Order: sequence, then C-alpha cells, then structure tokens
Amino acid sequence: MKHWLSSLPPGVLFLVDNVFSVSFLAPASVLAATNIFYTRFSLHIPNWLSALSCLVSLPLVFAGRIIWKSFADEREAARMGARMAPVMNGKLPGNLDILMKFLNGSNNDYPGEALLEWMEHLNSNTFNLRLLWEDFIVTTEPEYIKTILSTDFHNYVKGERFQYAMESVLGSGVFNADGDMWKFHRSMTRPFFTHDRISHFDIFDRHAEDAIARMKDRFESGYAVDIQDLISRFTLDSTTEFLFGKDVRSLASPLPFPYTTGTKLPSGDIHLSQAEQFSRAFAQSQQIIADRSRTGEVWPLLEIFGDQTKKPMEVVNGYIEPILREALEKRKTSEKVIEGDKYEVGEGETLLDHLVKYTSDPVVLKDEILNIMIAGKDTTAVTMTCAIYLLAMHPSVLSKLRSEILERVGPHRRPTYDDIKEMKYLRAVLNETLRLFPPVPFNVRDSVNATTWPSCDPTQKPIYIPAGTTIPYSVFLMHRRTDLWGPDADEFDPERFIDTRLKKYLVPNPFIFLPFNAGPRICLGQQFAYNEMSFMLIRLFQTFSSVTLSPSSHVPGTLPPPEWSSARGRKGIEKFWPKSHLTMYSLGGLWVNMEEKEV
Ligand code: HEM
Ligand SMILES: *[C@@H]1O[C@H](CO)[C@@H](O)[C@H](O)[C@H]1NC(C)=O
Ligand SMILES: *[C@@H]1O[C@H](CO)[C@@H](O)[C@H](O)[C@H]1NC(C)=O
Ligand SMILES: *[C@@H]1O[C@H](CO)[C@@H](O)[C@H](O)[C@H]1NC(C)=O
Repeated sequence: MKHWLSSLPPGVLFLVDNVFSVSFLAPASVLAATNIFYTRFSLHIPNWLSALSCLVSLPLVFAGRIIWKSFADEREAARMGARMAPVMNGKLPGNLDILMKFLNGSNNDYPGEALLEWMEHLNSNTFNLRLLWEDFIVTTEPEYIKTILSTDFHNYVKGERFQYAMESVLGSGVFNADGDMWKFHRSMTRPFFTHDRISHFDIFDRHAEDAIARMKDRFESGYAVDIQDLISRFTLDSTTEFLFGKDVRSLASPLPFPYTTGTKLPSGDIHLSQAEQFSRAFAQSQQIIADRSRTGEVWPLLEIFGDQTKKPMEVVNGYIEPILREALEKRKTSEKVIEGDKYEVGEGETLLDHLVKYTSDPVVLKDEILNIMIAGKDTTAVTMTCAIYLLAMHPSVLSKLRSEILERVGPHRRPTYDDIKEMKYLRAVLNETLRLFPPVPFNVRDSVNATTWPSCDPTQKPIYIPAGTTIPYSVFLMHRRTDLWGPDADEFDPERFIDTRLKKYLVPNPFIFLPFNAGPRICLGQQFAYNEMSFMLIRLFQTFSSVTLSPSSHVPGTLPPPEWSSARGRKGIEKFWPKSHLTMYSLGGLWVNMEEKEV
C-alpha cells in the first residue's frame, strides 16, 4: 500500500485493498465463466442465475480459502512432527462471541481476565484465539517468549499490520521498524544511551524540584493531587529536555482539582502556549494509534473520511520542525569526534545533537525523536505512579524504603549515580512494581516462516506455528504466574528480589521477568529509566514521609467496580483501575495525599 494511493484516507485504502482486489476476483470469474459458456458452447446461462452465482461465489471463495489454509497447516504440522495449538472454540461462527468478550473485557474488566479464563479452560498457557478465522496464538510461556525475542529473533517481526497502524505517527523510527531500517535507527540512537550522564541528573533535579513544589502547594491548600498527571508532566518535561534541549514546561500549567471541588480547568486551546498545544496534540495522536491497535486490522474502516492523526500531527510537526532546523544549522559548525564506528556523545549533548551527526534527513530525525518520546515518557511515568500506589497500600515497605534513602542520601542531598546503584531496596521496589504492573503488559509479533515450539509437556508433540501468524504475548500475565513465581505471586513484596526466592525462581529462569523485553530489541532506555525513576522517588520520599490514596477525589466510574471485590487474585484487592492502551495507566488518574516529614 505504499504508492500514490497512500494520500487517500486509510478507510478508502482498506476497501480498495481488501474488497476490490481480492473478493471481486470471485464474481468476476463467475461472469467470465458465463461468458465462456456462451461464446464457446452457446450455452445460455439466465441472468438471475449468474447474478446469484456471483453473490454466492463471495462467501464460497472466502470459505474455500480458509479450509484450504487449515488443511495445508495440518499437513505441514504433521510433516514437521508437530501438533496444532489448542483452539478456543466459541459458540458463534468466526469466534465472534470470543471476539466480543475480548473487546468488552479490555474496556470493562481487569486486564487479561478473559485470556486467563480461556487458558484455564484449555489448561494451556499457549492457545489459538482464532478470531474471524484467523490464527492468534497467544502465549505467556517464558520459553516461547524467549524464542520469539531472542533465540529465534529473526523469525519474528513487528510486522506490516502493526507498522501500518502506527506509521502516521511513528513513521519508520526504531520502535516501529523491522529489518535494515530498524538496525539503522537502533545503531544511530544506541550510543546516546550507553553511558549515564551527569547532565541527565541535572535535568531530573530541576523538574523533580518543580514537581514537588507544585505538590506541596496543592497539599497545603487542602486538596489531593493526581500523581499520575503530575508524574507524567515530570517525565514529559524531562524527556523533551534531553531530547531536544527545550522542555515543554508542562509542569507550569494549572494542576487539575479533585472531582468533588467541581473546579474545571479552562478548556479549548486559545490560551495554550505552543508547547502546551504540542504536548496535547502528541497525546492525542498517541491515543489514536492506541485505539487503532485495539480495533485490530479493520481500524481503517473507522477512518473512512480521513486519517485522524493528520490534524494533531500537523501541530506536532509544526512545533518540532523549527527545533530540527536549528539543530541542523548548529551541526554545520560543530566538530564531530569518531569513536570506533560511532560518534562520541559529549556531556550535555541532547539526543538531537547526537542524531544530526548521522543524518540530516529531517523526516528520519523527527521519527526518531517521536519514537523515543513514546518509548520513554509514559513507561517511566506509569511505573512511578504504580510504585506510589503500591507504597500507599504497603506502609511498611515505604518505611523501609525511606530508611534506605535517609541512610544513603540523607534528607536533603541530591542523589548521585553511585547512590542509585547502591540502593538495593529501592531497586527491588522498582522491580517488584515492574513485575506486577509492567508498563507494556501486552505485546505482539508476527511469525515470518512456519516453525515449531517444543512442548512444555515432554510427552506431547511440539506446537506448530504457521507462517505469518499473529502472536500476542503477555508479560503481565507471565509475571503473575504462581508456577513461575511461587504461591504468593499476586502479592507486592520487594523482598522476593532479595531473599531466597530470588535464587529459587528468577536466577535459574531469568526469562520469567521481562518488563524491558529481551534480545536484540531490548529496551534502549532501561538504565536511563532506572536512573530517572530512582531519582524522582528519592526526591519524593526525602520530602514526604507518608502517602495515602484519596478515592473520594476520583471521578465516579474510574475506581474498580464494587463487584470486583469478590474476585480472586489482585482483581479482588486492587484500589485503582489498571488499563492498557499501548502502555498501562490508571483510569482517571491516581489521587493521593502526602504528608511532609516531621522536621
Ligand atoms: C520503566 C520504563 C520502561 C519500560 C518498562 C520499557 C519497556 C520497553 C519494552 C517492553 C520495549 C520493547 C517494545 C517492543 O519491541 O515491542 C522497549 C523498547 C524501547 N524502549 Fe523502553 N521502556 C522503558 C523506558 C524507556 C526509556 C526511558 C527510553 C528512552 C528514553 C526507552 C527507549 C526504548 C526504545 C528506543 C525502544 C525500542 C528498541 C528497539 O525496538 O530496538 N524506554 N521498552
Ligand atoms: C462486559 O463486561 C462486563 C464486566 O466484565 C460484564 O458485566 C458485562 O456483562 C459484559 N457485557 C457483555 C455485553 O458481555
Ligand atoms: C524464510 O524462508 C525463506 C525461504 O526458505 C528464506 O529465504 C528466509 O531467509 C526465511 N526467513 C527467516 C527470517 O527465517
Ligand atoms: C532488577 O531487575 C534487573 C533486570 O531488569 C536486574 O538487573 C537487577 O539486578 C534487579 N535488581 C534487584 C535489586 O532486584
């Protein structure tokens, strides 16, 4: 779909591609056959009959293709000495009921509940959802996820469907590319993240101070704070500053008030600064591509009248382009130091300063900047938000964490890189948060060639994976499996990353913990993320000694429904509503009160 047609709305393209090109072949051949019968054999087929045949030929061809593929898959599986993955069979044709339940679940239920139910029903952590006659082989098996991400990396790609849905925002940046394009982007960006830089700590410190001042203000006037909103502003300002040296100052805009005060922030964007318009528009585009990925392959049908990301992306581009031009101007005058085949990154350099050494193509630069923004902003924000939530639920963990902070850093000093490296308990708190709430809870790859996965049960044959199969996998569900993590897997307990449980579960089987993925596409920002999150949490709990949730500040309908309380597992105890679009977030924010330490 990458030719002149690409200027048409996505919905029109979708119809052209699917309805016209494929399905019209069937009725067209019926008509051709009618014609041949007539001209060759003088056999006249009545018009009503050929019209009827045209109509019937559509579903027949469709069904024929499905049956043929199943047949071919089974034959190929047998040839490879494998079996088909267990299929979840619903009541309606095409598993329409399963599809509806799946979609309804992602809107109304605790994450992953429907998948869990089906896995239990089939007694298998790997199974085929088979939606609308198409294979979706879902897995939570560490061994298979390791195969996909690492040992057989080349046979699993993000794939065209994923890329097409993301393209109008992410272009061909590192997050959204496969093959050589991905390699090019990754090798260009990677050197920037290979060392910890003091300049990053300067950035964290300035924005952390800003954020904490805003919180104190609000608490002093007697209101709770939406910590998810506040932390997201902290990561947005930090991210934009290290990306292009200019933060968007989202922390300067008014904070929202609790629902109960009835105070609304001014809406409309007449008075918004350019930076505010940029961050809003970017959040909007992100939401649109998240919705697309949830709608599935037919998302273009919802965009018949045009690409919904077009307008917000014009605002985004309008903000970024002058910044790019400036960086490209600067590039002409600055000297570049080569280290091996890579350019050395100077202290204080922004990512953009670094990237312009490799390319002067403004589209490549813009794509890469926006990819890193998507990859780095919400992931760290949601981890900190969930950490604060879990600390509010577990005051004894908070008090132990504060002891470590006060012992190592003291009540005022700015934490250094070495402090953070030495703080084992803080790291365990972050890891335990990432285990229960991995920011990328569900992910997906497409298989390239047909392959097999060895069965976890040695008495069974390997599982056959057809070529071109969509493979959703969930680290969220894997991280909570009691057979992998022990009977207390649903509990928040940072000690499991320190005590005997570490050697019992994680050390022998490192692939049971994958918040950052693994293999050649492992997160580039992992160390940066630990630094940023550690820094902010240290600063927060140097200032505040306690945190409590404020459910009464939430907009009604954004807290877990009462009927969840009888459910098993974390669904039964959760005090916020975890949702996921591309990344995880808390529905309606996370409203908290915090008390300053007694002096
Ligand atoms: C707690 C914070 C974070 C988590 C849990 C996280 C998680 C992940 C995951 C799961 C992926 C793999 C996505 C996929 O291939 O499907 C990924 C990729 C990536 N992350 Fe992170 N991330 C975090 C923070 C960051 C930060 C702060 C940055 C940069 C500033 C960053 C940059 C990237 C990049 C560039 C990729 C793409 C790598 C590639 O495809 O080669 N991440 N991250
Ligand atoms: C959707 O999910 C909710 C919560 O699980 C459930 O109560 C409701 O009955 C479901 N609706 C449909 C139409 O399945
Ligand atoms: C898939 O199979 C084709 C044909 O055998 C081969 O050329 C290609 O390298 C394979 N691709 C991968 C990723 O294994
Ligand atoms: C936390 O997890 C990372 C892997 O993502 C690991 O390298 C580190 O040792 C863990 N630290 C602690 C204290 O659990």
